[in-house]
Amino acid sequence: MCGIVGVLGNHEVAPILVEALKRLEYRGYDSAGIATVQNGKLDRRRALGKLVNLSDLLVHDPLPGHAGIGHTRWATHGEPSVINAHPHQSGNVAVVHNGIIENFRDLRAELAEAGLTPETETDTETVAMMTRLHMDRGLPPVEAAFKTIDQLEGAFALAFLFDGEEDLIVVARKGSPLAIGHGDGEMFVGSDAIALAPLTDRITYLEEGDRAVVTRAGAVITDAEGRLANRDMQQIEVDAARVDKAGHKHFMSKEIAEQPAVVARAIEHYLQGSDIVLPGDGIDFTKIDRLTLVACGTAFYACLTAKYWFEQLARIPVEVDIASEFRYREPPIPNRTMALFVSQSGETADTLAALRYCKEKADKIVSVVNVTTSSIARESDVTLPIFAGVEVGVASTKAFTCQLTVLLLLALKAAKARGAQSDAELATHLSALQNLPGAINVALGAGDSIRRTARKLSEARDVLFLGRGLMYPLALEGALKLKEISYIHAEAYASGELKHGPIALIDKNVPVIVMAPRDSLFDKTVSNMQEVMARKGKVLLMSDSQGLKEAGDDVWEEIEMPAAPEIVTPILYAVPAQLLAYHTAVAKGTDVDQPRNLAKSVTVE
Ligand code: F6R
Repeated sequence: MCGIVGVLGNHEVAPILVEALKRLEYRGYDSAGIATVQNGKLDRRRALGKLVNLSDLLVHDPLPGHAGIGHTRWATHGEPSVINAHPHQSGNVAVVHNGIIENFRDLRAELAEAGLTPETETDTETVAMMTRLHMDRGLPPVEAAFKTIDQLEGAFALAFLFDGEEDLIVVARKGSPLAIGHGDGEMFVGSDAIALAPLTDRITYLEEGDRAVVTRAGAVITDAEGRLANRDMQQIEVDAARVDKAGHKHFMSKEIAEQPAVVARAIEHYLQGSDIVLPGDGIDFTKIDRLTLVACGTAFYACLTAKYWFEQLARIPVEVDIASEFRYREPPIPNRTMALFVSQSGETADTLAALRYCKEKADKIVSVVNVTTSSIARESDVTLPIFAGVEVGVASTKAFTCQLTVLLLLALKAAKARGAQSDAELATHLSALQNLPGAINVALGAGDSIRRTARKLSEARDVLFLGRGLMYPLALEGALKLKEISYIHAEAYASGELKHGPIALIDKNVPVIVMAPRDSLFDKTVSNMQEVMARKGKVLLMSDSQGLKEAGDDVWEEIEMPAAPEIVTPILYAVPAQLLAYHTAVAKGTDVDQPRNLAKSVTVE
């Protein structure tokens, strides 16, 4: 989390920095700030809350200068406040940081001995103070910054700006992403290429342990061992970085509406005739005996869904893990294991760490990502893009359905390679997938009735989601969507688990959302639903017309979905779950695209 930018420009940089920060605001929006050097003097402006507050401040109190750095914060150490906002300045140096400096207390002790006292509660301030100390003791700026970087433990992307230096930004990367952008006589740095997209499409990604001295003439990069490093400059697709709401009130609603198109694009990319084609050398599933799937949050629920597909269709045993738990458990990775990591951003710190744990141990490292230039993509043996396009809303929607689509294609590929499905069965599944974008389009048509239901749901304090089989992970995802953007407490259970405890929560005030297409497990889910209704629980049933006809009597609310083959229902039912969360949040008046306390890219543990 946190987004950082830097510009060595030929014009005033404050508006450029703010514009770039706007594109990084998905990384955190607790506070924002910029620093520039003008006539040799460092100065900064910082504001609490969203970036718009910083923009307002700059109108009244402009910050001139052609060299600058900027930051948008997701607080880790120290509450969101102006004093804790970046850039942090100590003497002649200002610093912006994404990550966590784990040894900041030790560094503070060293600084205290030198008579320097921190003014903030942040870990980042120690980086500025330590650099200042080295400069006070006679080191020039670059050496002082490098010496400080050598002392740091933890994860960081850092940018340093110095008093008296209008053609210098020093940057470093360890554990948090950082890109350098090349302009014409101008240079840029940023947490990702999207931030820099309007400025340049020529990008160099720093690798782990890299640091760089950036001037308007270019960037001199050294690796973790201090050797000169030659990192490729890539031409990124500026189109892929285009970000607008296309007439929607929120990015989330635009991204929900895009799903027929992006899911179709993902299918089209991988499906050539009746063959599922993977990039590069692909994956030989006959040499794989076991899968380990690892991710966080929504991507984790995509993995949980994929477990059903890989096990049922391809007969491969699957383990699914939450990335933050995975490596600390030190799980053994038997031979012939494929480790698969799912991540929209490709930068989630825990997922990346889990991937690194599996390197050298797993037979194949595969990732399913949206950002193909991300660290997770770059460190995988095989990267499978999901083609969702830029996702701005903090609550993941189209990335989830595209992740599911690619995972289903992969499970079908595995099923074919292992002879676990007949050609006729495979053809049926592929045709279900090909009809899916059309079915999602129909599902989107339920938006108006979902909006009406959501108004009622917005009055609830607690909500339960129930699902069985493929609908269980989806119930978990539905509950996550609702809680993260509407702040309503929501939990999900496998419907069969209800009577083992959670049924005690049911009363007339608790809406229970039952996700139950008319599939092979429908009757069992409906029995669990009846148990809820017998205890006066208010049931909202999501099903197709047949399901609603058979079980819709006496339910509180209904949401009708098109009928679809069981195998694709998780992708289809994601849509009403998203719409329900969206309209509930709108009814409650919460900040849909930037819900409190969250950030889109979680680059700290
Ligand atoms: C929820 C959501 C998060 C992410 C999670 C992993 O709507 O978006 O739960 O799914 O933080 O992020 P990625 O997929 O970028 O690794």
